[in-house]
Amino acid sequence: MNADEMKKMAAEAALTYVKGGIVGVGTGSTVNHFIDYLATIKNKIEGAVSSSEVSTERMKGHGIPVLDLNAAGELDVYVDGADESDHNLSLIKGGGGALTREKIVAGASKEFICIADGSKLVDVLGKFPLPVEVIPMARSHVARQLVKIGGTPVWREDFITDNGNVILDVHNLEITKPIEMEQQINNIAGVVTTGIFALRGADVLILGTEEGVKTVLPG
Ligand code: 5RP
Repeated sequence: MNADEMKKMAAEAALTYVKGGIVGVGTGSTVNHFIDYLATIKNKIEGAVSSSEVSTERMKGHGIPVLDLNAAGELDVYVDGADESDHNLSLIKGGGGALTREKIVAGASKEFICIADGSKLVDVLGKFPLPVEVIPMARSHVARQLVKIGGTPVWREDFITDNGNVILDVHNLEITKPIEMEQQINNIAGVVTTGIFALRGADVLILGTEEGVKTVLPG
């Protein structure tokens, strides 16, 4: 079984957490499968709040109403992928560059269901380069601060986020204290947000694996 089949399996399993109402929807190849499954129950939901233009387009293509978060209020459930998860369900996200809107929608949701293939579960976050969204004029300044905390930032050239900003992918971090590092990086002037999701991590991690679907809870 390849990674995409495992992602698809996790995406289908997440449907059981959708009870109706307005669903928060993340971004990425795993979420694309989830959107396709969500379309099969679109008559049971009021609509979705999207974390990216790409997900919005895919949902509209399926005829799923996409709503403004300001009008939607607090959401019952948010479904999104991840680049890495540790066993506390602190995450690295932002491989697709949608981290800021993803963090907003996750923060506005009562329950965060993370869907991924089994390779994403790790003991310590940081092998996947940590995405950090940055205001363009602050790129060099932020990069210097990230070097001071031990990282090797690489500018994701030719990429602009949905918010008009740039991404630095930070290599060589060993993130043993995700909450502290999330706060430390968010405190650098010019950072919009970091791809560490620890202050608001996932509540449930659904993994597609060779042995079938596995559900992981924090701790
Ligand atoms: C996008 C994300 C994605 O959830 C993350 O990159 C995982 O992507 P995929 O499902 O394609 O493996 O954070 O910003």
